[in-house]
Amino acid sequence: LKSPTGCPVSARAAAFDPFAPSYQQNPAEVVRWAREEEPVFYSPELGYWVVTRYEDVKAVFRDNLLFSPSVALEKITPATGEVMDILKSYGFAMNRTMVNEDEPDHMARRRLLMDAFMPERLMDYEQPIRDLARKYMDRFVDKGRADLVAEMFYEIPLTIALHFLGVPDEGAEQLRHFAVAHTLNTWGRPTAQEQLEIAHNVGRFWQTAQGILDTMMAKPDGEGWMYDSIRQHHAHPDIVTESYLRSMMMAILAAAHETTSNATANAFMTLLSHREAWEEICAQPALIPNAVEECLRVAGSIIAWRRMATRDTVVGGVEIPKGGKLLLFQASANADASHFEDPDRVDLHRENAVEHLTFGYGAHQCMGKNIGRMQMRIFLEEFVRRLPHIRLVEGQQFDFLSNTSFRGPSALWVQWDPLHNPERLAN
Ligand code: HEM
Repeated sequence: LKSPTGCPVSARAAAFDPFAPSYQQNPAEVVRWAREEEPVFYSPELGYWVVTRYEDVKAVFRDNLLFSPSVALEKITPATGEVMDILKSYGFAMNRTMVNEDEPDHMARRRLLMDAFMPERLMDYEQPIRDLARKYMDRFVDKGRADLVAEMFYEIPLTIALHFLGVPDEGAEQLRHFAVAHTLNTWGRPTAQEQLEIAHNVGRFWQTAQGILDTMMAKPDGEGWMYDSIRQHHAHPDIVTESYLRSMMMAILAAAHETTSNATANAFMTLLSHREAWEEICAQPALIPNAVEECLRVAGSIIAWRRMATRDTVVGGVEIPKGGKLLLFQASANADASHFEDPDRVDLHRENAVEHLTFGYGAHQCMGKNIGRMQMRIFLEEFVRRLPHIRLVEGQQFDFLSNTSFRGPSALWVQWDPLHNPERLAN
């Protein structure tokens, strides 16, 4: 086996399979060999160059002219003709959003659409998020057992995301189904047969998103980021194009909450399986903001992201030809011992935890990062106060959706003795 530049592919590079269960179970571990010995390798299975070290991943993120993000939402498993026909029958026309737009259009658009993400605007969400957290916890606090994903971590970020976007939340339950189809369609390796059903769901997702957008465009005076975007579209139609609005409406209906739900579940999974870390935030809640960063480092909800070389270049000493596609393995970069001391340790005092690459880096760095962080912080604050004695239900196997990029357990079962709830003991 040879790479496109004619170099032999090592046995381990040839065996790399991001759709095998081990990849999602422990993403940093499956490429430990690469971080140590072959930091940039060609994966014939993917047709991508996989970049595993911190400095290299960051350098590629940093230069979005040399490394175009245009491939970020491409189907990683090429569609069959039949799939294309199905998508076409739904009028599917997913194109550039923000995350896969090149310069100079990207930055012009990002500037026009940034206001809603400013810290002073986000402060308005603190109390509503806390109120929702309390309301959801009230439902199970006396039960002694809960699946935190199903009973809290999925719905609250979804509710907050819809509110932030200005989208009414009726019909929200079908979004989960759609988002799974979107993830598998874009980052998964479904069989030819599975692709057909997925394509129908992606088509329905597209149409639902267009219906929502049409309703909003007909009465564009509402509040929320998609309303801001519609108004900017009218003011600057060549920058905030209609194609952008249509593509973004669908993409953001998945991106704004799946990422946060998964990151929250990953954080609780990480802290509860490192009991000493959990006990530490219970004793010292002031550690929570840094604990959020440390969890995003060791168990981020986006574990790999894509770029394409716009000319011949070199990454980590390896030649990449023009048009070469790169899988930036953030989960591996975040576990790189040359940047994070003793990287396998969950260390809530780690001074550079915040330097993780889970939100990307540079011109495209996640615009919603502070919304995600705020929710994770508030959920942890409420749990350490009201349910510090929760434990993971023992022996549970965590289940992940097979795909290159989105990671979070489909369920997270915890249990506790309600008689020991601090609220009861206080009365
Ligand atoms: C971009 C991760 C939450 C909106 C991105 C990127 C990543 C990411 C990896 C690409 C960065 C790059 O190419 O350098 C995450 C994670 C989240 C999260 C891990 C939660 C823990 C959110 C939320 C929103 C959001 C809540 C919106 C409400 C965006 C947007 C972009 C983006 C608009 C495109 C930015 C650009 O290309 O200029 N995110 N995200 N994200 N994210 Fe997030």
